[in-house]
Amino acid sequence: MAVTEEAVLAALKRVEDPELHRDVISLGMIKDVKVSAGTVSLTLVLTTPACPVRQKFESDVRTAVAAIPGVTGVNLATTAQVRSVRSFDQQSIPGIRNVIAIASGKGGVGKTTVSVNLAVALAKDGAKVGLMDADIYGPNVPLMMGLGSLPPMRDQRIVPAENFGVKVMSMGFLVKPAEAVIWRGPMLHGAINKFLKEVEWGDLDYLLCDLPPGTGDVQLSLCQVISMSGALIVTTPQDVALLDVRKSISMFEKVKVPILGVVENMSSFICPHCSKSTDIFSKGGGARAAEELKIPFLGEVPLVPEVREGSDSGHPITLTHPDSPAAKAFVEIARKLAGQVSILAAQEQEHLKSAWKV
Ligand SMILES: Nc1ncnc2c1ncn2[C@@H]1O[C@H](COP(=O)(O)OP(=O)(O)OP(=O)(O)O)[C@@H](O)[C@H]1O
Ligand SMILES: [Mg+2]
Repeated sequence: MAVTEEAVLAALKRVEDPELHRDVISLGMIKDVKVSAGTVSLTLVLTTPACPVRQKFESDVRTAVAAIPGVTGVNLATTAQVRSVRSFDQQSIPGIRNVIAIASGKGGVGKTTVSVNLAVALAKDGAKVGLMDADIYGPNVPLMMGLGSLPPMRDQRIVPAENFGVKVMSMGFLVKPAEAVIWRGPMLHGAINKFLKEVEWGDLDYLLCDLPPGTGDVQLSLCQVISMSGALIVTTPQDVALLDVRKSISMFEKVKVPILGVVENMSSFICPHCSKSTDIFSKGGGARAAEELKIPFLGEVPLVPEVREGSDSGHPITLTHPDSPAAKAFVEIARKLAGQVSILAAQEQEHLKSAWKV
């Protein structure tokens, strides 16, 4: 029996995206179906190159096609096309599909460390990534990304610095740290606006935005200047963390920025001498907060000296020790984050469709 394209599409109609819970055909994820004798060639277009369920997805598609009577071979290619959560937002910047805020209720919990490692992990998976340091008062991103200065301007526009496949912009490139402290709100907004609109970001799937610590006016208006796809909250595990997470969330609710998830940083301390694990800051606060507040918990990063050393030396652990538990945690969290963005983008699309029908 000759295999037809219709038979392939019908079989794939039964394959669901495990996260979006819809079939791959109606999600537009299958392209270039060709049948030649018994061999079926097709392309699976994921919603992110950092897909957390990529292997399962590929094997589900392969199995469904291979099960069609008459199929003797399956040539599956996989690509990705990241969708924007805010495709119709007037404030969105052409070419930048998703801006993600990395925030915390209080300082020093590891926002910048998390931002840098997630950016690097997403880029390693093949995503087009930018990292914007919105912490005007303590711009640490250049140091942690091993960058010192910006390249020359091109056509009167700022060209971001680049390392490890990530484009970076930071106030740290423009002012000395001591000068930054005199900056006030309105100047800050001007600077952030410039960072977004006058920087040659090019084509980006994700622009991670490392926010300053806290939940004050500055953070609030930053979220209004930038059309955010969502926010990731970083916390440490103590019980008091719950209070801070709640504060962060209510700030984002005010400006209608959805929460993509919570990350617990500085979870267990793993002793470099005896490998024993100690919960210095307690454990599980992030997961508890996420459960109570009904937001996704994306994972925990252990407290290990290599993370700090990587940050200080500008060589993120995700690249230097990819097999370490911390690096694996960052990669997993980055993929879950990308997955959450895909879910929101799909929901937004559904929402728009139903709005137009009315
Ligand atoms: N998992 C970790 N293990 C070890 N050290 C860590 C870890 N996470 C962060 N650090 C270290 O803790 C310090 C604070 O981290 P970081 O600067 O990323 O926090 P932050 O939340 O951005 O701070 P701020 O609120 O000042 O912007 C840094 O020295 C960093 O290297
Ligand atoms: Mg910081």
